[in-house]
Amino acid sequence: MLTVVTSSVEETVLLGERLGSLAGPGDFIALTGELGSGKTQFARGLAAGLGVDPSVPVTSPTYTLMNLYSGRVALYHFDLYRLAGDPEVAELGFEEYFYGDGVCIVEWAERLRDLLPQERLTVSFSYLDENCRSISFEPDGPRYRSIVRKLAFPRGEDGPVTEKAPHDMPDAE
Ligand SMILES: Nc1ncnc2c1ncn2[C@@H]1O[C@H](COP(=O)(O)OP(=O)(O)OP(=O)(O)O)[C@@H](O)[C@H]1O
Ligand SMILES: [Mg+2]
Repeated sequence: MLTVVTSSVEETVLLGERLGSLAGPGDFIALTGELGSGKTQFARGLAAGLGVDPSVPVTSPTYTLMNLYSGRVALYHFDLYRLAGDPEVAELGFEEYFYGDGVCIVEWAERLRDLLPQERLTVSFSYLDENCRSISFEPDGPRYRSIVRKLAFPRGEDGPVTEKAPHDMPDAE
């Protein structure tokens, strides 16, 4: 698991943008965490990273339940806050999107039980103080483990420097 503490909205948006640049067709991103913890701000960044036109506002789909954005890949942004759970989600036909070719980002994914895809990236938000949020990335499945690795090591390093063989280390002088 990777945890990042952001100390402004901008940092949360940037983190979402980095994930968006790594996302691709069929990805499922489950957002969990209390009201006002930053899920929609993160989704706004993710849309930017997927190449959604910056002049298109990314807003909370609390009432519409789903917003569709077109980027490099189609982005489906859900908010399940108002839904009771699986039966309602099934009735609305959301499964088709969850297992489709776009990227799904789902706020209040904790509302799902059996309909939550087993392979997914769960991003959990917690409120620390007015400007700080703790954001944790928990991957299920190899695809998402690889994405989290890339988030943690953007330049493609394989892990902490101390794991490198001695001859790969720069000269100490
Ligand atoms: N570090 C931060 N990251 C994200 N948002 C922050 C941060 N600091 C302050 N905020 C503020 O917290 C609020 C987060 O709102 P946002 O709509 O993203 O929450 P949410 O988790 O989607 O809530 P809801 O469950 O109601 O949909 C915004 O008003 C934002 O300005
Ligand atoms: Mg929201």
